[in-house]
Amino acid sequence: MRPGWGMIQPAPDGPEIEAGISQAEADRLRELARDKRVLEIGSAFGGSTIAMASTAREVVAVDPHQWIPGSVDVLRANLAAYGLTNVRIVQELSFTYLPALIAAGEKFDLVYIDGDHSGAAVALDAANARQLAPVLAFHDYGNAEIEVQPALDAAFPPDRYRRHLVGALLTAYLEERAYVRHI
Ligand SMILES: C[S@@+](CC[C@H](N)C(=O)[O-])C[C@H]1O[C@@H](n2cnc3c(N)ncnc32)[C@H](O)[C@@H]1O
Repeated sequence: MRPGWGMIQPAPDGPEIEAGISQAEADRLRELARDKRVLEIGSAFGGSTIAMASTAREVVAVDPHQWIPGSVDVLRANLAAYGLTNVRIVQELSFTYLPALIAAGEKFDLVYIDGDHSGAAVALDAANARQLAPVLAFHDYGNAEIEVQPALDAAFPPDRYRRHLVGALLTAYLEERAYVRHI
């Protein structure tokens, strides 16, 4: 098991898989993605991918799969174990793929970002993602060892954006009409 990762069941009726997100974060992603067209940056073995695909119309899952050897094969096997056919795997870096989506006029309802966690990368992914969807969700907010939180606080200051936090999963709402009230 990778340090800090755990076994979760990303959706009902399937096996536990190794993931970098918690069970509560997977449950939150399932609700966030319901009936939506979703773009994901950073799939690894598919914890977040499966959580979202189990309720979404479609998930475009962008990950070059170079960081974790064999992760794309495990991702495919995990998707098959859950019987999911609404995921398009794109083995490319977000830094090149998102500008291509923007240039092509593509639109999504939600972008979920859990890729390169350097401050510069998070800022670049956020700048591209906000041109593609009205709701953005980011993993690893609040992790003091990486630069995600300062990058997101600069991009989405809490006094200017509606935000919602579950565990380390921060959702930023860019448009009022996309906001879902949380209890
Ligand atoms: C923390 S893991 C993702 C964990 C996954 N979301 C889960 O639920 O278990 C990060 C993944 O992001 C990928 N990655 C890193 N930089 C990326 C980038 N610029 N674009 C797309 N994927 C990237 C890595 O290959 C790795 O598989």
